[in-house]
Amino acid sequence: MSHGAYKEAHPLADRVCHWIHLGSMVVLAFTGFFIHFPFGGLRMDLMRDLHFVAMWLVIINLAVRLVLLLTLKTANVKGTRQIAGDWINFTPQSENRGQLFETIKYYLFLRKTHPISGKYNPLQKMAYVAMQGLLVAQAITGFAIYGRTDQLFGSLTTMVGGLMVMREAHYFIMWAFILITMIHVYLSAAEDVEALPLMFAGKETPL
Ligand code: HEM
Ligand code: HEM
Repeated sequence: MSHGAYKEAHPLADRVCHWIHLGSMVVLAFTGFFIHFPFGGLRMDLMRDLHFVAMWLVIINLAVRLVLLLTLKTANVKGTRQIAGDWINFTPQSENRGQLFETIKYYLFLRKTHPISGKYNPLQKMAYVAMQGLLVAQAITGFAIYGRTDQLFGSLTTMVGGLMVMREAHYFIMWAFILITMIHVYLSAAEDVEALPLMFAGKETPL
């Protein structure tokens, strides 16, 4: 069902953050996989350097997105131009009241129509917040395996059972990201195709 997609839902600053997030995650997953399992005769030092550049980019990008969350106003009801605090998109909102289980039922094919919701449905909100949590966990495990920050993360590393556990956790979280991104891309295309030209090119779809 067409509901329209307007720039107020995803202003330029949000879209740039999503581009940077996406680009740096691709570089991090590629170089990280290479560090774990070198292939194709590529240079390890180059791959490590790229991993470090992308890791700072993704961390700075997350910080910028958090500032935007608190300062930007965006449309938080699907297909409207009415704007309010961007943070509402990531917290419970009145338009989604009582829709958590209805949305789960829809995704489990137990209900035919998608419940009308805010810009993001309750599951989307939880997924987007969880993605940022996972990124923080990835930064902590990443810095822990980075020798020079041993002092800062040393006790945490000892607590979880040593450096090898941290490396395995870092590697495992990469696969969690790959899986979540696949679901995210599938659901964006299947359930909110109008958001794609808007998110990637700022192109609106009128109602
Ligand atoms: C967010 C901040 C991140 C930091 C601080 C970080 C840091 C690091 C460091 C220091 C290493 C070890 C490099 C070496 O041994 O030469 C590493 C390896 C790795 N990173 Fe990251 N990284 C981050 C994000 C990511 C992300 C988002 C992914 C994947 C989506 C990722 C995937 C990997 C993988 C798979 C390895 C190899 C681990 C192994 O040896 O098994 N990293 N990372
Ligand atoms: C080709 C890959 C990707 C596509 C096609 C895509 C598509 C989209 C679309 C269409 C939206 C807006 C949804 C809506 O308005 O209903 C969105 C939002 C979002 N995506 Fe992606 N995405 C991709 C990769 C990623 C990756 C790699 C991550 C992070 C690991 C990510 C994290 C997010 C987050 C956190 C939001 C909410 C953004 C906000 O409101 O600022 N996406 N994505």
